[in-house]
Amino acid sequence: MRTQIAIIGAGPAGMFLAHLLHAAGIDARVIERRDRSYVEGRVRAGVLEQVTVDLMRRLGLADRLNACGLVHGGTNLSIDGRIIHIDMAGLTGGRTVTVYGQQEVMRDLFDAAETRGVTVAWNAADVALHDLNGVHPHVTWRDASGEHRLDCDFVVGCDGYHGVSRGAIPAEVLRTFERVYPFGWLGILADVPPVEHELIYANHERGFALASMRSATRSRYYIQCSLDEDVADWPDERFWAELAVRLGPNVAERLVRGPSFEKSIAPLRSFVSEPMRWGRLFLAGDAAHIVPPTGAKGMNLAVSDVTMLGEALTEHYRERSDAGIDHYSARALARVWKAERFSWWFTSLTHRFPAMDGFDRRLQMAEIDYISGSEAAQRTLAENYVGLPL
Ligand code: APR
Ligand code: PHB
Repeated sequence: MRTQIAIIGAGPAGMFLAHLLHAAGIDARVIERRDRSYVEGRVRAGVLEQVTVDLMRRLGLADRLNACGLVHGGTNLSIDGRIIHIDMAGLTGGRTVTVYGQQEVMRDLFDAAETRGVTVAWNAADVALHDLNGVHPHVTWRDASGEHRLDCDFVVGCDGYHGVSRGAIPAEVLRTFERVYPFGWLGILADVPPVEHELIYANHERGFALASMRSATRSRYYIQCSLDEDVADWPDERFWAELAVRLGPNVAERLVRGPSFEKSIAPLRSFVSEPMRWGRLFLAGDAAHIVPPTGAKGMNLAVSDVTMLGEALTEHYRERSDAGIDHYSARALARVWKAERFSWWFTSLTHRFPAMDGFDRRLQMAEIDYISGSEAAQRTLAENYVGLPL
């Protein structure tokens, strides 16, 4: 088998890239370790930057997004129950975010892949990358039907943090940078109307809380928890009670409670590996970088990576110019690091760190109070939250 681009991983990075290349007339195949229902079933953040919405529209994938996405021109910070509204659209010349779950995005990508003939090899075991710095790059794997080999011009590693691609870059070339946070997020999904029409990022003495949503009838709530916490110790009543305390009495009196149908704990991490290209291998999305979920940048960053890579590969095939692919790593990393900075800052501002003392806490309170009174500070938050330009 032969293709121009072999894509490892059918998450958002891999599937958006496959559609971008298909639209540009470049032949690509996706090789995925799991099956469609597994990839589609993972619950992740649900806030799309304008870059992501624009790409879905450009690729003709936005029918359901246009009909069901919730456009938010603002967001809220809260400190010990006091709400500070950030008018993102007003501060950024009308830019907004759209609330639309990653599970819905994946469904749109997979449905369109089937009708357009974008090929995914599911259940691929023992995926291995070969000759990435030579003249015959290829990928091998195994599935129920036997052993496979795919020859290609380039391999793109879109296989997430735990994938094989990053490890194919020699240790003496690869540099990694990391922060692991001393807490996690305990999240639930419940079919109850959201407490507020926009999100609330709450800093409370007892820890962070986030009020988010998937639709007018489905809410997504999180509370910061310690990493050794067990989901079994958090029956719904305990979760709702803790959430209500952290959101404060004014918000809590409007909180509609109900049975959760998903409950899980996620750790928080900041991670970047450099470079994002080695020989005929490119990395995109979580394979190269992780952000903590505060600010919901994960999927949006994957989209900005593959948008840049799609442009670079199109230039390579159409104009026979390697300028774009040679510049890909530096261009993508410049945007990645700005999103890393924002996600780290927003996490630091809103969470309770175990080592925090009264001084640290008062600095957080002072910074939030400063934001509440400063249009400049609000604009800085808003322009990062809606997403920096590509
Ligand atoms: N071989 C083939 N596929 C693999 C391998 C492998 N060895 N290892 C992992 N994969 C697949 C995973 O099963 C998964 O479907 O690669 C995919 C990676 O998807 P994500 O982890 O979602 O990564 P990415 O597409 O970069 O997503 C970016 O979306 O899912 C969120 O948290 C993620 O916010 C991040 C964003
Ligand atoms: C979510 O809805 O899951 C969500 C929203 C905003 C975030 C993180 C997660 O910052």
